[in-house]
Order: sequence, then C-alpha cells, then structure tokens
Amino acid sequence: MGTARLLLLLAAAALCCASASPAAKGGSCSKFPALFNFGDSNSDTGGFWAAFPAQRGPFGMTYFGKPAGRASDGRLAIDFIAQAMGLPLLSPYLQSIGSDFRRGANFATLASTALLPNTSVFVAGISPFSLAIQLNQMKELRDRAISSDGNNGQLPPLDIFGHALYTIDIGQNDFTSNLGSLGVETVKQSLPSVVNQISWTIQDLYNIGARNFMVFNMAPIGCYPAFLTELPHSSNDLDEFGCMTTYNSGVVYYNELLNNSLAEVRKKLHDASIVYVDKHTVTLELFRHPDAHGLEYGTKACCGYGGGAYNFNQNVYCGNSKTVNGQTVTATACGDPQNYVSWDGIHATEAANKIIASAVISGSYSYPPSKLCSP
Ligand SMILES: *[C@@H]1O[C@H](CO)[C@@H](O)[C@H](O)[C@H]1NC(C)=O
Ligand SMILES: *[C@@H]1O[C@H](CO)[C@@H](O)[C@H](O)[C@H]1NC(C)=O
Repeated sequence: MGTARLLLLLAAAALCCASASPAAKGGSCSKFPALFNFGDSNSDTGGFWAAFPAQRGPFGMTYFGKPAGRASDGRLAIDFIAQAMGLPLLSPYLQSIGSDFRRGANFATLASTALLPNTSVFVAGISPFSLAIQLNQMKELRDRAISSDGNNGQLPPLDIFGHALYTIDIGQNDFTSNLGSLGVETVKQSLPSVVNQISWTIQDLYNIGARNFMVFNMAPIGCYPAFLTELPHSSNDLDEFGCMTTYNSGVVYYNELLNNSLAEVRKKLHDASIVYVDKHTVTLELFRHPDAHGLEYGTKACCGYGGGAYNFNQNVYCGNSKTVNGQTVTATACGDPQNYVSWDGIHATEAANKIIASAVISGSYSYPPSKLCSP
C-alpha cells in the first residue's frame, strides 16, 4: 500500500507530573481513571499495524527499541498523556494479543478519516477504521463489559465509563488526502461535514455516558516536509519560516470551524466538559523556532531519503527501500532524532511529541482552560 501517502499524525501528551513522582503511582496527577482515544496516526498506538502487520524499523528506535505500532521514533503525545495520568500505555482495540482494556482503549488507526472513506487502504492508503467505525468499536467494548457484568477479565469495570477521559484527534487525513488533486479551496468546502462528524461523535459518546472530552485541533500541515515536497505551491507561498501559507490558512479555517462547533455542542450538553485543545499553536511554534525548544530542525525529516532541505521522497518513505536508477536506496533515520520536529516527514518525533504533550497537560492551550492534572 502507498505508505508514503498515509497521511495522519499528531498527538498531544504531557509531563505535567514529571516532578511529582506520586503521579506514577496512579492518580494524583489526574482525576480520570481511564482514557479512551479516537484518531489517526497522530495517536495510533498500534491499531493499524495490528490489523495490517507488520511495521518495520526504524520506527520505535528511540523509546521502544523496536517497532511499536507508532508512527514515530518513540512515544506519541497520547502516550505521554497516559503516563502523566498514571495510566498504562493504551492498548489498541484491534490488537488481539496482549491487550489490557481495564484502564482504557485506543481506537485510533493510522490513516483514519473522520468521514467514511470512499476508497480502500489498498488503493489510496486510507484506513477503513474511520471515526464512525471507531465509535461502534467503543460501543461494542462497553456492551461486552456490561454483558460480562463485572466478571470481565481485561475489560474495563462498568463504573469507569462515566468518569473516563475521551480524547479525539482526527480530521487531518480528511483535509490532506485530496489536497493535491482538488486544491485547498475545494477541500475547504468539505470541512464543515468533517467537523460535524466529530461533534456528532461527542454527542453519541455522551449518550452512552461519556462526560469528559478533549478534542485536538489540526497541526499546521503546511510545515510538514512531506507536504512541502508533494503539494503544489509557489515559492512565494512560503512564509519566513518556510511553511506554505495557503495550506496553513486552510488549517486555521478548519480549526475555527471545529472550535465553533464544539461551542455549539457545549450549549447542548450542559453537564459535559468539552475541551478544545490547541495543538496547532504548539506545533506551529516548534516548526518556527525549533531552537527555542531544544531542537534543531523544523521542516526537515529525520527519517527519509534524498537529503536536501526536507529529506523526504514520497517514493522512498521512511524505512522503505526502492530501486532508483538501478540502485537500491533506503530511507534511513538520522542519528539524532531528538533534534528534529518531524520524524518521517509527516509524523512528529518523540522529542516533539513530548513538548506537545507537556503543553497540553499544562492546560494553557485548552479552551475552556482546564488542567489535565490537579494543581
Ligand atoms: C464519498 O462520496 C460521496 C458521494 O459521492 C460524497 O457525498 C462523500 O462526501 C464522499 N466522502 C468523502 C470522504 O470524500
Ligand atoms: C475558541 O473559541 C472560544 C470561544 O468559544 C474562544 O474564546 C477561543 O479563543 C477560541 N480558541 C481559539 C484557539 O481560537
């Protein structure tokens, strides 16, 4: 499948309690006993690669020391968030071996869209597990926990669903998958339905008892090495930081739609907490001033082929080999992923994810302001 065209990413996580070791014992950091996540590659902890094995190195090299089903060299923001909450790293719902859902589950899969896809993973690389499917999986998990009546092995205890945190980080693939062919103005017309899908999902989850939500907005994909390489743009569309302004303003438009739609949902669901997480601002800042955050490279991928400004070649995606002009070439990882924002041209490095997560956990990028951890 066209891995280089798999388009999802981003996540947020945190280190809220890095100095408060009791958090590691499970509880003082966070008021939530469990975490259920919906999304794409930005927060997929192994779902896609459980369904379509197997992922290869150098993915996972930094933290796990082997491929761990994540589109990064290490942990995703959702991993840092789970750790800060005193929870285990989330098991993917699709993972049949070794999963434990007692403290939550992860329904996210790489290349998922909010809307039902019109194409297949084998044609365009889009995951079949779109948001509506992920919601059905959540309902099934809950139904199975209920029917097993507490005697449920690796399933969540029944009283956890109403107290858990539900995180949603999706929409990026809806935005990017047709950008090259349709252009940003046409894609923008489809964005209200993407946002509506997310809002309906929140209401559906509310109807089965969920009360605490965090919804992540979209990162500035106009700064991603992959899109800088693949998407048509003129050189005067680049801003002073080397990001594409037209695509990035499309992202800002999407984020406004999302923020407004969540405000509407909040009016309907009075006893729910629905938090809009501005991952966009944090990530944009990393691309613009990597050095201010202990990083060196913004718009250049760590793992890729071709070198140059972006080190990205869509025909030789991170970890893949290909014959080019009779020679076999491989897209390998840099030796210092801790200095990069972008891991593979699309997804963030563990280093960037850690910074994004810290920002999310701090609550400073949340509307309404809300700390994940108690003070
Ligand atoms: C799929 O196709 C239908 C009918 O052409 C269209 O209404 C829908 O928006 C498409 N979905 C996506 C995700 O493009
Ligand atoms: C989101 O909307 C709220 C109002 O509902 C506003 O106060 C806030 O500034 C918005 N956040 C962003 C990042 O645009």
